[in-house]
Amino acid sequence: MSERIPEIDNLTLRFGGLTAPDDVSLHINEGEIPGLIGPNGAGKTTCFNAVTGVYRPTSGDIKFRGSSIVGMKKHQITQNGIARTFQNIRLFPTMTALENVPVGTDARHRTGMLTALFRLPRHRREEQEGHDRAMELLRFMGIHRKADELAANLSYGDQRRPEIARDGHGAQADLPRRAGGRVQPGREGPAHGAHPQGA
Ligand SMILES: Nc1ncnc2c1ncn2[C@@H]1O[C@H](COP(=O)(O)OP(=O)(O)OP(=O)(O)O)[C@@H](O)[C@H]1O
Ligand SMILES: [Mg+2]
Repeated sequence: MSERIPEIDNLTLRFGGLTAPDDVSLHINEGEIPGLIGPNGAGKTTCFNAVTGVYRPTSGDIKFRGSSIVGMKKHQITQNGIARTFQNIRLFPTMTALENVPVGTDARHRTGMLTALFRLPRHRREEQEGHDRAMELLRFMGIHRKADELAANLSYGDQRRPEIARDGHGAQADLPRRAGGRVQPGREGPAHGAHPQGA
């Protein structure tokens, strides 16, 4: 049996008198690319907020590779390998698709300011590795041919692609090998991200 990567057991969140999600259990096996569907207000985004540590569950457990992640800080959860995109698109519009991918991962670089300032070999190597990895993720997301297009000029559907690539880059997820195929982004539903207050 393949490994359960995230596993959600009886997840419940209460906001005053409102309960959503209510007793949700699900798991994703290695290599699966599932979708989560449900009516507006069902608790889908709240589920993602609980998995990524934005909300603490009222009850239930969330495991990642067998260990509970409930109570962990958001950055610890990301370092474990869980990343997310948001319902509304968050790209830098005047940067290219490719430039958007490594945004935020510089903090992981081992080179310091002086090494970067003088563009010493180690810095150049890290930059090259970041670039190659970003291109690999763009290729996986089927958007590598538009790597040099400004994010603002991409269609709505295509803007999801560098976003997912960026989050895979940030979480150092092994997306191409784990998922074994191409992703069709934006499948929370046709309205995914279409309503402005969503997250
Ligand atoms: N911080 C909060 N305080 C109070 N209520 C909240 C909070 N967060 C979410 N809710 C409520 O929880 C319910 C589930 O919301 P959620 O955004 O998870 O639904 P959804 O399934 O993502 O819906 P949509 O399809 O519209 O994106 C909604 O009724 C929402 O108003
Ligand atoms: Mg939602």
